[in-house]
Amino acid sequence: MMQPTIPQVDPIPLPAPYWLFKVLLIVTFVLHILAMNFMFGGAILAFVARLKGKKDPTYLRLSQDVVKKIPSFLAATITLGVAPLLFVQVLFGQYFYTSSILMAWPWFLVIPLLTLAYYGLYIVAFSGEKKAASHTWILLGSVVFLFLIGFFYTSNFTLMLRPEAWSSKYFADPSGWNLNWGDPQLIPRYLHFVVAATAIAGLMVAFTGFFKWNRDRAYARLLMDYGSRWYLYGTLAQFVVGIVFLLALPKEKMMLFMGKNVPATLLFWMAVILAVGAVVAVGRGLRRDDPRPQLRLAMWLTAVVVLFMAIARDILRMAFLPSFRPEQLQVQTQYSVLALFLILFVAGGILWVVMIRRYFAFSHADEA
Ligand code: HEM
Repeated sequence: MMQPTIPQVDPIPLPAPYWLFKVLLIVTFVLHILAMNFMFGGAILAFVARLKGKKDPTYLRLSQDVVKKIPSFLAATITLGVAPLLFVQVLFGQYFYTSSILMAWPWFLVIPLLTLAYYGLYIVAFSGEKKAASHTWILLGSVVFLFLIGFFYTSNFTLMLRPEAWSSKYFADPSGWNLNWGDPQLIPRYLHFVVAATAIAGLMVAFTGFFKWNRDRAYARLLMDYGSRWYLYGTLAQFVVGIVFLLALPKEKMMLFMGKNVPATLLFWMAVILAVGAVVAVGRGLRRDDPRPQLRLAMWLTAVVVLFMAIARDILRMAFLPSFRPEQLQVQTQYSVLALFLILFVAGGILWVVMIRRYFAFSHADEA
């Protein structure tokens, strides 16, 4: 087979060691994807709650409570997306820029779609419960735009892994409309993200019930039950989607998680076992008078699952890119800048925790 042409590695040296960029890439990706799950999954849950609201108006209240949070989560998704975007470009620029050029138009489209989705969410979030029912379709429009954006991301992050397909795709159609069609992992991988988004948003909705527990028990219970069901069914569906995704991978890549690569196998199966643990916990919580301890446990387990899956995703990326050799990257550590960056990064992290706590405490204090 002809060797694929891959652009030269950027000759500018890395300003910090490779491993540090890798750790930061994975950590910031996890944060991005969690925010995306709350936002995108939250919008789906709110939409379905609105449909249920036609029969039971308490679901309208639930929907409106969730929708009000979504513009903030969208801002968080974007901000937390910039960081991994920078790290991906630094480490994998020669792959990522090429795939971005091949699908340049959909990639550019992300910005207008994002703007439209944002407008829609703001309109719905500020409309109040009265107009909630009539704004159902605006919400659906935003969900569709977000769905497309996510699909473009998966398309780009899988197309960058296929240097062997680049030239045939480009010469067949040089117009910049080359999504990664034809890659068997594209759809299952994206579905894996979409289903995860609804499950994790379910946990988030259940968590908002914690803030109502003392003052409005019936509504708190509704939030917890509705959120828990999404988590439960979403995660159960994920066992099917996940298997389809694994089977869609080339056999030698799939085998990485089936014993060929010991750390990858351990990580992957531990994540699966923890996910089963979280499902059991949420299922038990649904049957208890007070589901909070079970929900808390499920949240911690799920956080670990997401982290492990993100590392597994990175192992898979490296397996797809045998031509990528970290030792080809020049490193010239800029200690002063690095120290400043790390201080700001940790301080920023602490600020986020403070902000999130206040945000939840504040946004629920006046409602109960
Ligand atoms: C707002 C809607 C968005 C959605 C629904 C979304 C969804 C996703 C999904 C599904 C992936 C995983 C792709 C895959 O591996 O198959 C992803 C990855 C990623 N997203 Fe987002 N995203 C959004 C916005 C953004 C924005 C605005 C940025 C940047 C400013 C961003 C930066 C990234 C980066 C850099 C990755 C990959 C990181 C890595 O490869 O480790 N995303 N996103």
